[in-house]
Amino acid sequence: MKTVVITGGAGFLGSHLCDLFIKKGHRVICLDNFLTGKKSNVAALERDRHFVLVEQDVSRPFRVAGSVHLILHFASPASPVDYYRYPLETMRVGSMGTHHALELARAKKAVFLMASTSEIYGDPLVHPQTEEYWGNVNPIGPRSVYDETKRFSEALTMAYRRAYLLDTKIVRIFNTYGPRMRIDDGRAIPNFIAQALKNKPLTIYGNGMQTRSFCYVSDLVEGIYRLSRSRYHDPVNLGNPREMTLKELIVFIRTMTNSKSKIVYKPLPKDDPKQRQPDISRARVLLKWQPRVAVEEGLPTTIAWFRDRI
Ligand SMILES: NC(=O)c1ccc[n+]([C@@H]2O[C@H](COP(=O)([O-])OP(=O)(O)OC[C@H]3O[C@@H](n4cnc5c(N)ncnc54)[C@H](O)[C@@H]3O)[C@@H](O)[C@H]2O)c1
Repeated sequence: MKTVVITGGAGFLGSHLCDLFIKKGHRVICLDNFLTGKKSNVAALERDRHFVLVEQDVSRPFRVAGSVHLILHFASPASPVDYYRYPLETMRVGSMGTHHALELARAKKAVFLMASTSEIYGDPLVHPQTEEYWGNVNPIGPRSVYDETKRFSEALTMAYRRAYLLDTKIVRIFNTYGPRMRIDDGRAIPNFIAQALKNKPLTIYGNGMQTRSFCYVSDLVEGIYRLSRSRYHDPVNLGNPREMTLKELIVFIRTMTNSKSKIVYKPLPKDDPKQRQPDISRARVLLKWQPRVAVEEGLPTTIAWFRDRI
């Protein structure tokens, strides 16, 4: 049995990773300060003797007793609403937090996997985005607190690998959705579902023709599991390459919820990317991975989860 430390383990993705690694027969230590995550996300695991939940701000130095084989560093606010609200916390966890998590990996000789993001490509000038693309990021705009710390975290991860020969991995996650997202986290899917279920106006920022690609959470965590076991060290994109406009997404959600909501248009926020689509050729070849759950399947499950909570 291996011990896996998951920072940010009480968040949306972290809690699904806790579930998966417990299911695969590992011991999981979840570290979280509940800034944007919730204890209830891992409540079902708390009765499992192989699961430990520790309240810990990983931007501060921390220790973990005993051996650790794998560290998944997922702690960080992830939605624009959250990192606008917590800009300095976001920068601390993406700098000091990453440093402390890497130090833990060094001390324990553990594999280290860092949650990076498609945001490191910024408003991309290359489409779809391959891992070779260096990105088009505004280093001082409001999104920079997130984008630039993720870029820093990638650089620090590679520096630890070069300096200490650490076994590191970097996953560049594209928009992922599913149960346990917070209804108020401001991301497109929870926003639209909440508005549709309440028959409130569906707000599109811009003209709705900007595209996104949405990956269902079970697909994403399976890809991360495979990456954690691979021998690969350069970044790997994980996401669903099926691209859709926000307008198409809204029509899907409105139909699936039988909503009477009208669409209203608001000005586009600063530096909002116009298009995003992962090139997942690397993951297909290296991890034999590709998404299986189409939005037609993933959205109803997510809508049902939100419906129970509204
Ligand atoms: N969900 C996505 O579509 C997506 C896309 C790209 C990257 N990511 C990355 O995946 C990770 C998880 O994202 P998510 O969507 O689950 O977000 P989330 O906000 O649900 O989860 C983040 C978790 O980190 C915790 N956290 C924040 N600061 C912390 C600190 N200093 N110490 C300890 N815990 C802290 C939060 O309380 C929360 O539980 C993030 O690193 C994010 O950048 C997510």
